[in-house]
Amino acid sequence: MFGNESDASLDPRAEPRGQYSYARHALIVRITHWINALALALLFMSGLQIFNAHPYLYWGQSSYSRRPAVVAIGATKNAGGQPIGVTRILSHVFDTTGVLGLSHEDGQLSERGFPSWITIPSVRWLAMARRWHFFFAWLLVFNGSIYLIYSILGHHLGRDLAPTRVDWRSIGRSILDHLRFRHPVGAASTRYNVLQKLTYLVVIFGLLPLMILTGWAMSPRLDSIIPGWSSVLGGRQSARTLHFLIAWTLVAFVLVHVFEVMITGVWNNVRSMITGRYEVAPEPVTRDVSHDRH
Ligand code: HEM
Repeated sequence: MFGNESDASLDPRAEPRGQYSYARHALIVRITHWINALALALLFMSGLQIFNAHPYLYWGQSSYSRRPAVVAIGATKNAGGQPIGVTRILSHVFDTTGVLGLSHEDGQLSERGFPSWITIPSVRWLAMARRWHFFFAWLLVFNGSIYLIYSILGHHLGRDLAPTRVDWRSIGRSILDHLRFRHPVGAASTRYNVLQKLTYLVVIFGLLPLMILTGWAMSPRLDSIIPGWSSVLGGRQSARTLHFLIAWTLVAFVLVHVFEVMITGVWNNVRSMITGRYEVAPEPVTRDVSHDRH
């Protein structure tokens, strides 16, 4: 939608102008974006409740291989006999009382992987968590397919998300601009910058498909459609571990994504994803001194 060709304001040869607004995001992109955000949040929270049923992560085909878990969350007692929550990652052990291993559930200290405020349902209830998880997993697949079909057929992918030759050349500058919190204004702000494009492409064509494929590898029914699929990922337990890691990588993406949305004009950005309209700030006027007479 960025390339709304009839909008003269997007013509790079146009004279710098004052503040104006234009239609930035297509309706399909806006609807699928918010359904996707909701589905991912609920998938993440119900996924943590499913994880809590056995808060250990392994590598390989089976958890009965006698190899120790790569991640283990649980509760134990300290030297003074007090219950504490502990998290072990490989051979590193951390006291995570109050958050991981031991936290409050219904006002009572309880042994549980992730705390009740981050899981759906909040109380221990595996069957209900699986219902939420599978409903929103299919919604994500359906919604994502609509977005992909639109993006490819509607040329959103080629026009707005694929980096151009100029983009590739400007990677270094874009990294420096991000580090200095300098953001484009005027005509340049009507396009995604190269880091933004690459990040979105990694999420859309890397993390989200991997999330679905590693989830698929854990489902015996789906796995029977492509037998041996879980072995490609290193076994069912490896698929579960990868699924968990990708979920947290997506959380990291969302944190950075929302941070960038906030520092580049929270209302303007969020409004553009709700109503479509985006306000372009005027470019600073720089006087061309080369034509001045001395
Ligand atoms: C509350 C959370 C979120 C907020 C406030 C938010 C906000 C936004 C906004 C304002 C934009 C437009 C950026 C621009 O025009 O420069 C955007 C684009 C985008 N967001 Fe989010 N977002 C959220 C969650 C997510 C999640 C969970 C994902 C996926 C994992 C995601 C993926 C994307 C993608 C791929 C785009 C580019 C869409 C396109 O042009 O096709 N966002 N988001």
